Amino acid sequence: MNFTLTATDTKSSARCGVLETSHGTIPTPIFMPVGTRASVKSLEPHELTELGVSIILANTYHLYLRPGNDILRKAGGVHRFMNWNGPLLTDSGGYQVYSLSDLRKITEEGVTFRSHLDGSKQQFTPENVIDTERIIGSDIIMPLDECPPSTADREYVQTSGELTIRWAERAKKRFVSTSPLYGHSQFLFGITQGGIHADLRTISTKALVDLDFDGYAIGGMAVGEPAEAMYRVLELSDMLLPARKPRYLMGVGTPENILNAIERGVDMFDCVIPTREGRNGRVYTRNGTMNLRAAKYAADFRPLDEGFDNEVCRNFSRAYIRHLLNVGEILGLKLCTMQNISFYLWLTTTAREQIQNGTFTEWKNDFLSRFNSNEK
Ligand code: GUN
Repeated sequence: MNFTLTATDTKSSARCGVLETSHGTIPTPIFMPVGTRASVKSLEPHELTELGVSIILANTYHLYLRPGNDILRKAGGVHRFMNWNGPLLTDSGGYQVYSLSDLRKITEEGVTFRSHLDGSKQQFTPENVIDTERIIGSDIIMPLDECPPSTADREYVQTSGELTIRWAERAKKRFVSTSPLYGHSQFLFGITQGGIHADLRTISTKALVDLDFDGYAIGGMAVGEPAEAMYRVLELSDMLLPARKPRYLMGVGTPENILNAIERGVDMFDCVIPTREGRNGRVYTRNGTMNLRAAKYAADFRPLDEGFDNEVCRNFSRAYIRHLLNVGEILGLKLCTMQNISFYLWLTTTAREQIQNGTFTEWKNDFLSRFNSNEK
């Protein structure tokens, strides 16, 4: 995979880079909006582009169940199916099997489960997940892993982490013995596990580095552990992962989590917070978050974030968007989603600029004290 580091911070592990895929170039650090079922809820692909989105995420578990591999293959892959011509990353579905499906059973071979939709019996193996991701045609592919819950004891995390390593090896084997279906390149990342146990995380990370993936995801985080424990895992990962490959922290997180992870050498992020919370009327601005459903915004005709240059802030007031939410107009959900994605992209773009200027840590501290003190 072509990943070039373009700047590194002298005072922290923060870095800027450029990730090249067949569907476009991704500047890092980057936030990837979540489009689980081949749709970033309420937004058309051209709207994503206008917001400055450079890569989106979809999920193998959901797409495999619906519309299913036959239709995805006939569509010519998910880029064509959804008319998104930018880079696409797919999570393997491992995580969703554990959170959504019933009666799941993990064996050496893979995981059997019942669909959360119709109860049908299904099996994911490291091999058939790669096959589905070939059919999806995502630019960046994640292998099947197991993400243990934060309540899992050390012994479970160890056994599970060892299984994830063996699955990663099988996934890589399948990946190198098959080819992309639609003429564009695909890249395979490894996912490290090991919970917050330094020795187990080290074993997992070293084994995956030996398998030589195109990039590395740090999995099993933000499952209920304290933020400080996650930051220690990131510091360890920063020492063990090769500097010249991209690093992706899965499912994280708040603006504060993201900036602290960037400071510790992470390049890529995805999280449902901006889209999910947007649909609940929680809006992110450079001065903090606001619950737009609150009565105090009923006659507040200022933009969501004064001076923020995006479609939503240029054209609509807090009072109007609150009204839309209040009466259940779908435009309200859409405008909040747009604002939040725009804010998360501003966050990673500004982090990038500050790293390039050599002012990242000062800016981060300054920004977070303002952002966190203004919960509205
Ligand atoms: N999303 C958030 N965390 C994880 C993880 O540990 N594994 C996978 N596959 N996806 C995730």
